[in-house]
Amino acid sequence: MAARIQTIRGFRDILPEEAHKWWYVESTAREILGLFGFKEVRLPILEQTALFARSIGETTDIVEKEMYSFVDKGGDSLSLRPEATAGMVRMFIQHSLYHQPLTAKLFTIGPMFRRERPQKGRYRQFYQIDVEMFGFAHALADAELIHMLDTLLKRLKIPVYELHLNSLGCRKCREPFKEALKTFLKDKHEQLCPDCRRRRTLNPLRVFDCKKEQCKAVLKDAPLITDYLCEECKAHFLQLKGYLEELKISYVLNPYLVRGLDYYTRTIFEVIIPGIGAQSAVAGGGRYDNLVEMLGGRPTPATGFAIGMDRLLPCVPEPEEKQRPLFLALLGEEAVKVGLRWAKVLRANGIWTEIDYRLGSLKSQLNRANHLKALLALIIGEDEIKKDRAILRNMDTKEQIEVPLNPEEGLAIVKQQLGRK
Ligand code: HAM
Repeated sequence: MAARIQTIRGFRDILPEEAHKWWYVESTAREILGLFGFKEVRLPILEQTALFARSIGETTDIVEKEMYSFVDKGGDSLSLRPEATAGMVRMFIQHSLYHQPLTAKLFTIGPMFRRERPQKGRYRQFYQIDVEMFGFAHALADAELIHMLDTLLKRLKIPVYELHLNSLGCRKCREPFKEALKTFLKDKHEQLCPDCRRRRTLNPLRVFDCKKEQCKAVLKDAPLITDYLCEECKAHFLQLKGYLEELKISYVLNPYLVRGLDYYTRTIFEVIIPGIGAQSAVAGGGRYDNLVEMLGGRPTPATGFAIGMDRLLPCVPEPEEKQRPLFLALLGEEAVKVGLRWAKVLRANGIWTEIDYRLGSLKSQLNRANHLKALLALIIGEDEIKKDRAILRNMDTKEQIEVPLNPEEGLAIVKQQLGRK
């Protein structure tokens, strides 16, 4: 037998039993995002490597170790997108979306790629609902984003989650903080892991991302960004907290939160679902007021977040099946022909209709109807054709009634039985 080809490590298939939940979460997200005035866009999955290096940061784990990059036949260095913010900013600049208020609130849903070590909740291809807002510096924009995320999580009936909140300040207050952190870490050099020893001078904030116990222990006494915020950043953060209190959205102040990407300024946040394992962050985001300019655009404040669908989905309770199918049980060639006419009329009226193409005995066809959780079965056999009446069976109560064989005449009764107008 030929060797079987399997998915590659960290990549997976989403089978139909699971896929309907993905569809449910995506459509609920589209609905809620629509209520807040966000518009959907679609972006390429492949971009120039430089886009990610310049935005996420050369010395972040994502860019240093995790990107799927290659040189294509034309000699360009390309990468599968590890996240969507960089692409969104590129699009915003490329299409000069500065003066289009409606298009400045955008979202996209799709796969991202990071070559991390696979584990529960961590995949090499994973899916994000990514939301970005351009042109708004006010803390109200951050509050609206968090409000929207909270609304969606509540609508999806996520029972428990925590919103972790911090401010990373602006260029002005970040520099003195970085210097203080560098000085602090210098004395602790020996206690740090080899990666953090490097990060210490290159990008000291990244030490906060390290999951190693030895580095976490060192950071217990580290200087914290919140003590270094300038007056404007402090006021911005205070205003945001006030809005969240107004909205009755509870949050946990987490001064150790820095996020794994370099572009953030001021507000940053993460949503954690306790008890789902090591990968418990189901969403993360924040403000990035310098990024548009850094990528060659006009200075434009911006803020956004992304939901990790792979992590969120197992926490979403199974949605209720909205519609149950109608099953056509067809016995004999004449019945198949009448059945096809029924199927055409039913589907044209938005009714989910199933046929067992094996056309076995009545018993086996009704078994199939039960398996599909059909509410009604329309039974057509030789007798029914002779009598010009089909049998409509309620699969739950087993009650049967007769309906005209002609679908145009019988449709109204079927609709009534389905509880439809
Ligand atoms: P991020 O924190 O890197 O932020 O990713 C956002 C979410 O994507 C995470 O909280 C997590 O749920 C999910 N995620 C990340 N990596 C994986 C993985 N390997 N497997 C499964 N899920 C994963 C960003 O990507 C930013 N672009 C968010 C943002 C938007 N900030 C501003 N705008």
